Amino acid sequence: MPGNEKKILFDRPAIERRVRELADEISRDYAGGELLLIGILKGAFIFMADLARAVTIPCRIDFIRAASYGDEAKSSGRIAITKDVELSVEGVDVLIVDDIVDSGLTLKHIADELKTRGPRSVKVCAFLDKRKRRKVPFEADYVGFTIDDGFVIGYGLDYAEKYRFLPDVYVLTDEGRREVGDDK
Ligand code: PRP
Repeated sequence: MPGNEKKILFDRPAIERRVRELADEISRDYAGGELLLIGILKGAFIFMADLARAVTIPCRIDFIRAASYGDEAKSSGRIAITKDVELSVEGVDVLIVDDIVDSGLTLKHIADELKTRGPRSVKVCAFLDKRKRRKVPFEADYVGFTIDDGFVIGYGLDYAEKYRFLPDVYVLTDEGRREVGDDK
């Protein structure tokens, strides 16, 4: 039945409020400094755009992309950087920005890699945190919302590459997954 494929989790006003709070906290923590925001493609692109405009300190912007590889894909824990940053991180304050932490594998790998390149500091800001699903110990420094398990879509998050454009965050129902094709 149309309309039953997803349920709202966070609407636009709630998202805007939380992004503003995160940006205020980040602006206070880095007061007087500058930040290099590094978004993890593709999911971070909308959150990153909102966060970059809400912080009150100067920011430079770059992006990085990672992929899992191996027979078991993500569960293998093997992550490779498939598009590296273009700016140098040496001597600068880096804030990695992502839409969601799940197993922690992606963010841990990227944070560990960037830390080897001589930055002044590396912190992580994740819009959503599925804390119970960690496979490796990892804590983001700034978290928008902690959520339970479930297929979360919208605000940059996809299911089989659909739904990233939705301004609100939803949980996809079983019916929604069937509609898309449960092939992910
Ligand atoms: C998602 C998300 C995070 C990562 C989190 O990206 O954007 O980067 O997975 O999962 P983890 O904590 O288990 O590593 P995905 O690989 O789906 O790519 P996308 O951002 O292009 O959707």
